[in-house]
Amino acid sequence: MNPQHPTTEASQAPLLRSQRVRELTQDLHKSLEDTVGEWAPTDTLPGFTRFVQMQYLFQSEIQALYHDPELVNLFADLPERCRVKAAEADLADLGAQIPAAVPGALQAPSKAQALAWIRVSEGSKLGAAILFKQAVALGFSETHGARHLAEPEGGRMRGWKAFNAIFDNLPLSAEEEAEVDQASRDAFARLELLLRTVGKRATSPQPA
Ligand code: HEM
Repeated sequence: MNPQHPTTEASQAPLLRSQRVRELTQDLHKSLEDTVGEWAPTDTLPGFTRFVQMQYLFQSEIQALYHDPELVNLFADLPERCRVKAAEADLADLGAQIPAAVPGALQAPSKAQALAWIRVSEGSKLGAAILFKQAVALGFSETHGARHLAEPEGGRMRGWKAFNAIFDNLPLSAEEEAEVDQASRDAFARLELLLRTVGKRATSPQPA
């Protein structure tokens, strides 16, 4: 994740697109981790359930992107990377409702925006290694309750590197680069909102 460049020339190489996006979303990732801790602590059953609801909502909002022919043309394994069905099955295992949609989902993104949102979703499979262990401690597994956090075939890091290798080499205009940056931040902001919404729904009295 953090390659060391032994030579001067290499250390002066331009920042990869994925590195740039990583840097400009680090604050939001930290904030999201804090929000998970506050609204959906994944080492408790109610917290884990809220976390899965948030994941389901996010995955359902972007699932069409995973099947978009133009994007599948770039990332051949994109449809298999989609986790909405796994998250839905996890909710059933947890005995939790499918949460109602939250207004403000991503609408008709450009290719650059779509790439950024998918990348945020794919990156979350790395942190999922930690969350999966917590889910196992709660009694769940890759076939029950924690399917969407399970290690993808071929390994987490391999899948992530393969995604970024393609992402980093796509020709994008300056305008599209700016769209990638903004959309990456927007995706994290959306997750924050979904998490807080799910958390508030769970902790406030529901209408009869
Ligand atoms: C659904 C919520 C989350 C999303 C969308 C998300 C997103 C991401 C992304 C995009 C990356 C890759 C960073 C990059 O290289 O650009 C990443 C890495 C990582 N995330 Fe998360 N994350 C989420 C939740 C969490 C949580 C709750 C934790 C802590 C338990 C966590 C821990 C990590 C760790 C440790 C890495 C780095 C893994 C490595 O470099 O080997 N993430 N995450």
